[in-house]
Formats: sequence, structure tokens, C-alpha cells
Amino acid sequence: MSEFARELRAALAARPRSIAPKWFYDAAGSRLFDRICELPEYYPTRVELALLERHASAIAGCIGAGAEIVEFGAGSARKLRALLGALEAPLRYLPIDISGEHLLQAAAALRADHPALEVQPVVGDYVAGVELPQPRGRRVGFFPGSSIGNFDPVQAQALLLRMAALTRGAGLLIGVDRVKDPALLHAAYNDAAGVTAAFNLNLWARANAEAGADFDLDAWYHSAFYNAPLRRIEMHLVSRCAQVVTVAGQRFEFAEGESVHTENSYKYADAAFGELARAAGFEPRASWTDERRLFTLHWLASPACAGSLT
Ligand code: AVI
Repeated sequence: MSEFARELRAALAARPRSIAPKWFYDAAGSRLFDRICELPEYYPTRVELALLERHASAIAGCIGAGAEIVEFGAGSARKLRALLGALEAPLRYLPIDISGEHLLQAAAALRADHPALEVQPVVGDYVAGVELPQPRGRRVGFFPGSSIGNFDPVQAQALLLRMAALTRGAGLLIGVDRVKDPALLHAAYNDAAGVTAAFNLNLWARANAEAGADFDLDAWYHSAFYNAPLRRIEMHLVSRCAQVVTVAGQRFEFAEGESVHTENSYKYADAAFGELARAAGFEPRASWTDERRLFTLHWLASPACAGSLT
């Protein structure tokens, strides 16, 4: 049985039912996510790209010359492209992504456009831990897209701790979606064209294709809402009726209106994120925010040695 099938069965057997959002990103899910990034309602990608372009030279100054850039969850590597022109003699680019096909295509396209840049894609799950080649120089982390928001604060701190160790003596450039008017957040995760709904429902399509499941996609709907006390968007797949679904030979019953929690997307005030970063051993050194205060890029200096990771 695949890891996905095993995790899905465990998720559906547990209460509350909840599965890690990393399973969204098969080839179809990655394509849908790229479409989400183009949606008028989904501001994070546009705002972050504009910040990267506008502040590229200041950011490049923080990164320094001759750095090796490790990107966590690189996807189509579009954000790195916004910085490339400003970076001084980058040594190597190591994009990590769980979606192999998508990553390899992105790496090939980047090599074609920037033949002088050494690109070494690493297919794997940066959360579970991937094996990276030996560092050749100062290793700088790049974690854009507010993907940190897809982890709860305890998981986020553990992940940041590992990133601090990995980028020892250098730093991490990280994009973080800010707390804001819930109406804007609601629109961003409930787009009029239904792309986010298709992205969410693609999880069941993937389960049917890869995990021996028999989800009827018409019997489920997408739900996304802002949980203000927890400062997070929650996405769920909700059962339209009482039904039984089989996953790899195991039957699961769902009542009408019962849901499976498929994603959290935490939003942070700048100070709250600074606290989280400090708790992981980083020293926040610079940040860039747009005029509407929707999104922030943080430059975090990594601890100089592993010993300071307390
Ligand atoms: C990848 N991640 C930061 C996105 C987010 O906003 O949490 C995933 C996403 N889910 C729905 N729309 C976008």
C-alpha cells in the first residue's frame, strides 16, 4: 500500500478527520495550485512577487555574494526568478519539491533561461527531511509563498529550527501572509471561478487514482472559512449526504455534513512571526511589506553555530 493510502486511511479512521495538505500536490494538484496563484482573489503570489521585484537589490544585499540557495517547496521556481537578476554570483540553486514531474520541468526551464546558474533539483518532502548534496558555500534558505502557514505553530517552529540548522551562519528569506480583513481572506480561498474548490476536491480524485478509493466527487463540496481566534483559514471537504467510501479495501462511513479537514493556512502579524522565528533560533534582521499590509517578506539571520539553537 502506498504511503498516501496508509495516511489517508489513518486520517479517515481518526476523529477529527484531518489529512496533511502535502497530498494536494500530485501533477494535477500542482497545476491547479499554479492556476490559484493567477486568480484575481488570491493576492499572496502577486503581492509577494511585487515585493521580491521591488526590493530585489536590498534582499540580494542580505543574501550576499556567492550564496547557495535552497528553496523549500520550489514549485515552478517563479519567485526565485524575480530575485535572480539581483543576486551576486549565486553558487548553486537547490529547489526542493515533493511534486517530481513539476519540479524537473521547472528546473529544465530555469536552466534554459539561465545557463550560467547551476540548478540541482531535489525531489522530496522537506518536512520529512531530504538528503541534500554537500554544501559548497554559504547556504541560504528561501521559503516563499507563506507555506509556513500550512503548519500549526508547533510544527512551524520545528520546521524553522531545522531550517536554521541547515542555513547555519547565513539566513532564511521567508514569505508570510499577514492577518487582515477576513473578507479578503474568505475571497482568496473561495474564488468565483472555483479553482480552489477543484484543488481541494482533487485530493479525492488522487485518492481514487492512487489509493484504491471510490470517492464520488459530486457527493462532496469545498468549504473554506477564517477561524479568527486561531488566525487561520481552514479548508475542508464536506460530505453532501450519508455515504460509505472505500479506501484500499477499508470502508468509511460519513454522515451528511461531516467533513475532512484538508488544510490550515495560518496568518501572522509581523511581531508574532518574529517571535516564532526567534524561538527557532533566528534573528529577524529586515522585512518588507506592501502598502496594503497584506504580505511580508522576512530576512532572518541564522544562528552562527548549532550550539546556539536552544
Ligand atoms: C501553498 N499554500 C501557502 C497555499 C495557502 O494559501 O495556504 C495553498 C492554498 N490553498 C488554497 N489556496 C492556496
